[in-house]
Amino acid sequence: MKVPFVRTFDQHEYIMSNIMKRIEDIIRADSFILGPVVEKFEAKFAQMMGVKHAVGVASGTDAILLSLRLLDLQPDDQVIFPVFGRVAIPMAVLRVGAAPIFVDVDPLSGLLDLAKLEGAINQNTRVIIATHLYGKALNMNGLMELARKHNIAVIEDCAQAAGGQFHGRSLGAFGISGCFSFNPQSNLGGIGEGGMVITDVDEYAERLRKFRDHGRLDERYFDEIGYNSHMNAIQAAVLNLKLEELDESNAERIENARFYNRQFSELNAVLPEAPDNNAHVFNTYTIQVAQRDAMEIYLKEKKIGCGIYYPIPLHLQPCFDYLGYKEGDFPQAEQLAKRVISLPVFPGLKRQEINYVAQTVKEFLNG
Ligand SMILES: Cc1ncc(COP(=O)(O)O)c(C=O)c1O
Repeated sequence: MKVPFVRTFDQHEYIMSNIMKRIEDIIRADSFILGPVVEKFEAKFAQMMGVKHAVGVASGTDAILLSLRLLDLQPDDQVIFPVFGRVAIPMAVLRVGAAPIFVDVDPLSGLLDLAKLEGAINQNTRVIIATHLYGKALNMNGLMELARKHNIAVIEDCAQAAGGQFHGRSLGAFGISGCFSFNPQSNLGGIGEGGMVITDVDEYAERLRKFRDHGRLDERYFDEIGYNSHMNAIQAAVLNLKLEELDESNAERIENARFYNRQFSELNAVLPEAPDNNAHVFNTYTIQVAQRDAMEIYLKEKKIGCGIYYPIPLHLQPCFDYLGYKEGDFPQAEQLAKRVISLPVFPGLKRQEINYVAQTVKEFLNG
């Protein structure tokens, strides 16, 4: 048997004729960038997330970049975010000319450690980027209280957590903005790249729309420095269909995660919590094991796809050498980088496939 890490085909096959019809409509309408199909998707997305505005952009990275631009940051302004995460975040911070500040994470969940976060705050701290890692909601009560106390803006990175909630409220709706990625591997994946920013603030939405269009003021004038970061109509058309299936596909991910948790309960591994609501939507099902590298090789031999998120913490990436961090600076992230491994959890995973993955992991961990 062969089990890929992610297989999106099942989901797409189910809506294939609809996808093809909508792509044909776009070609006939001659309207490929932004336009009515994107607007429809934005409206539906905003409504589903319970916010006033959703602004479609070219990627999740751009969603974060454009959100940061809303705050007019200066070179001394600091942006704090977890050191165990995606390289897109520090790169966006650097592109807006602010100072990136790494903070260590919780050793069990890999999410921001709020006590360490508070310790890293000083008078130059302007923004916290809060990542709902693997699809798990960060403690937004604790985070927002801290942010209010210190008067710091929160940008939520929901790239892995579409449809996720904290105490019944959509992730992305807590901060000044919520940033989503429609990378095909994400739990709300397009058939190419795309991203979305959600916000409740009218002026922010207006400015985000401006930034994605090179800073355009009107037909002739541009009054801000912006980007070419439009959402394209084909992505919006496909995502509009997939949005309807999001709750169902998240439920399937959660069910798969619960199955693994039951199977692995006796093993020497740290397992993710699978709470009763959408507080974890399992973009990835990630466990921690001592012999991670050997397990990765073993799974590959058994033709099981797996992922490592993330093998190198951000402070040890060569591109950030000049920031002067060294090994030992963020011990929890460094440990996690050696121990985490993600297993196939996608919707459409067949019963015999998930059984095979579970059996193979047990075989390996039982020696
Ligand atoms: C946590 C996180 N943040 C940001 C991004 C960036 O999104 P994109 O690849 O759409 O630029 C990703 C990508 O998957 C991600 O996982």
